[in-house]
Amino acid sequence: MDTNKSQQTEDPLRPHTFDGIQEYDNSLPNWWLFTFYGAFVFAIGYWIYYQKTGVGADQHEEYQIALQQLQESVAKVEKSAPGITNDSLRALVDDPAIVAAGQQHYMSNCFPCHGNELQGPPTPGLPGVSLVDAEWLHGNEPAQIHATITNGVLEKGMPSWGPVLGSKRISELTAFILSKQDPSVVPVMVTASSPIANAAPTVPDAQPAAALEAVAEASGPSPSSLTNESLVEMSKDSAIVAAGQTRFQTLCVACHGVNLEGPPAPGLPGVSLVDAEWLHGNEPLQIRKTITHGVIEKGMVPWLGVVGEDGANELVAFILSKQIQ
Ligand code: HEC
Ligand code: HEC
Repeated sequence: MDTNKSQQTEDPLRPHTFDGIQEYDNSLPNWWLFTFYGAFVFAIGYWIYYQKTGVGADQHEEYQIALQQLQESVAKVEKSAPGITNDSLRALVDDPAIVAAGQQHYMSNCFPCHGNELQGPPTPGLPGVSLVDAEWLHGNEPAQIHATITNGVLEKGMPSWGPVLGSKRISELTAFILSKQDPSVVPVMVTASSPIANAAPTVPDAQPAAALEAVAEASGPSPSSLTNESLVEMSKDSAIVAAGQTRFQTLCVACHGVNLEGPPAPGLPGVSLVDAEWLHGNEPLQIRKTITHGVIEKGMVPWLGVVGEDGANELVAFILSKQIQ
């Protein structure tokens, strides 16, 4: 009340009265004035930017641009995996030739980890899951299965097959897997959602070899600085060898055996890595190249995308450490 009184004495009153109310003649606060003038400046700028010169896109144009981007990305997915839908994949199951082709790819690439009858790893302790039980980690919709095969689950030891096999062969594989499903089994999603489950297939149906070369060229620190000698040095570093051993036990024992002696069960692909015979050379750099690039037609997975450059070094170091001198 005191302040009011002092204001009343200091501040002049404006002469007019309305309904018995009188106003002080105070100046407006600066923050208010600057906001007010700022609004003018903004409005003029806005008007010039959007209306007068048309530099900025209006809502309609923004919508058109977003729509165009969407159409472009849809077209890209369509182009990389033409017509891959749940229905188109289901339709393939009716074609025995396609299912047979899928079975053939399966028998060259997948059975070490998923079993002859898709029942899961034939040897306990190997990576891989059943593809005919009720449980699905990454979705049992045909397009989801296609996407899982294409993209892999690298951190779990499921290679990414897109660059190796291409979209057509992966469709055939999907048809084969679908043909093996028991219609009386009610599928269960084990994980609620995974980033892979809903992803569209992204890897183009490229020439496998060329695509792999590109992957090999593009990724990681340049292997050109590696020499046979530097890899041999690594094989004397127990930490690197131990890291390689861990990787080997997850990814490689399925086909090369726990002691590198070769396939743990007869009929599996894979060769001994500790005998005198080397199909692709026993120089450290040659071993490394076999691991990174694989021998696709023989069922040796190209592992670069799974383990990376360092992982490849660790694996070579581990294999070298196991050689009988
Ligand atoms: C080196 C071992 C290995 C090979 C070879 C392999 N897989 Fe897998 N696969 C796995 C593992 C491990 C998983 C489980 C991934 C996880 O735990 O998320 C898996 C998961 C899958 C799934 C998803 C199953 C689910 O429950 O959602 C499909 C489908 C699949 N693999 C198909 C294939 C096909 C087709 C091939 C051959 C082209 C193949 N796999 C080759 C290891 C392998
Ligand atoms: C799905 C089965 C499979 C898995 C899993 C597998 N390999 Fe192989 N690997 C093979 C086959 C089959 C060959 C023989 C290729 C050939 O006949 O030319 C081979 C060959 C090799 C060779 C060359 C041997 C030689 O005689 O020149 C090396 C080195 C090798 N694998 C390392 C690995 C490593 C390291 C891993 C794990 C990261 C691994 N492999 C996982 C199937 C497999």
